[in-house]
Amino acid sequence: MPIAQNDNQQHWLITGANGNLGRRLVKELLTASADHVRAVVRSARAADQIANLGLTPQQNARLEVVTLNYTDEAALAEAADGCSRAVHLVGILKETKTAAYRDAHELSCMTLAKVCDQSTVTHITYLSILGSTAQSSNACLASKGAAEDILLAAATPTCVLRVPMVLGEGDYASAALLGRARQPRSFAFRPESLEQPVYAGDVTAAIRQAAALCHDGALDLAGPESLSRRALLQRTAACMGSTTQVLGLPLSIGFAFAGIVQTLLANPPLTTAMLGVLDHDDDIDPAPALHALQLSGLTAIEETVGHLLAN
Ligand SMILES: NC(=O)c1ccc[n+]([C@@H]2O[C@H](COP(=O)([O-])OP(=O)(O)OC[C@H]3O[C@@H](n4cnc5c(N)ncnc54)[C@H](OP(=O)(O)O)[C@@H]3O)[C@@H](O)[C@H]2O)c1
Repeated sequence: MPIAQNDNQQHWLITGANGNLGRRLVKELLTASADHVRAVVRSARAADQIANLGLTPQQNARLEVVTLNYTDEAALAEAADGCSRAVHLVGILKETKTAAYRDAHELSCMTLAKVCDQSTVTHITYLSILGSTAQSSNACLASKGAAEDILLAAATPTCVLRVPMVLGEGDYASAALLGRARQPRSFAFRPESLEQPVYAGDVTAAIRQAAALCHDGALDLAGPESLSRRALLQRTAACMGSTTQVLGLPLSIGFAFAGIVQTLLANPPLTTAMLGVLDHDDDIDPAPALHALQLSGLTAIEETVGHLLAN
């Protein structure tokens, strides 16, 4: 798929483009720049999600949607041909009997690294999870960490952005936060666990800067404030002019429940690895990442919740 090159326009290869951050990034790039986007997805259903983005005909003219399997090297090489920047947004929080961490993370990154090293792509950005490391005892964080290592070892300069809970208009995590904050009373496993939510618009801004600056290396990026899960729910409720009471449940009950359902069900509602990621204490200084990416600041929690409520 050769692309006519124009020095002022970048050509983006975005894998996992139908996800929450993918759709946001695709729309943002086509709205705020003259860049071209090749949105890569893995099913017709996912392609429809891109088709329903509500783009203008002019924006659609700069968009191509390609459906492939992320471990299909030949298909991905064809999709990457002519692209200058790649953003890999493929990932899962919950492993199931039909969706393994290794396939979604390590194998997709192996294919992408190989393809980019032999293509026109000059920079890759990978979204990972805060706390990921190949040595983690948590299966999800270990798999994400191993995937990071694969991309960081590629010849193509790669920026790994490790982020915690992302809050953006219309996504599942944000709807859950608003829904719980609206209730007068709710239950949470270990409500003292630390959250440092980052606004989705700050994440896409960081992705664009990482590519523009060709940043090579891993960065931990999080929101401007670390606070307990209980405080986050209460602050969110306050933004809605209400109050909420958060009652704690022992984490051991959550792990016991997750352990049982993941043994019995092909697609359990909760797994132990997922619970471990959600319970991770997020408390980092985002200043080094902001400095490296030449970003001036982050969206405050109240402003983020305002965006979510306005949606
Ligand atoms: N959102 C957050 O709070 C957050 C926090 C930290 C890190 N991240 C990372 O940021 C990236 C993008 O996040 P997001 O919120 O946009 O995620 P998302 O909405 O869940 O989208 C994930 C993407 O990965 C694809 N995918 C899911 N399971 C797959 C599998 N087994 N094999 C191949 N592809 C699979 C999905 O395709 P289908 O629709 O076809 O399943 C979708 O395109 C992910 O890698 C995630 O780990 C997100």
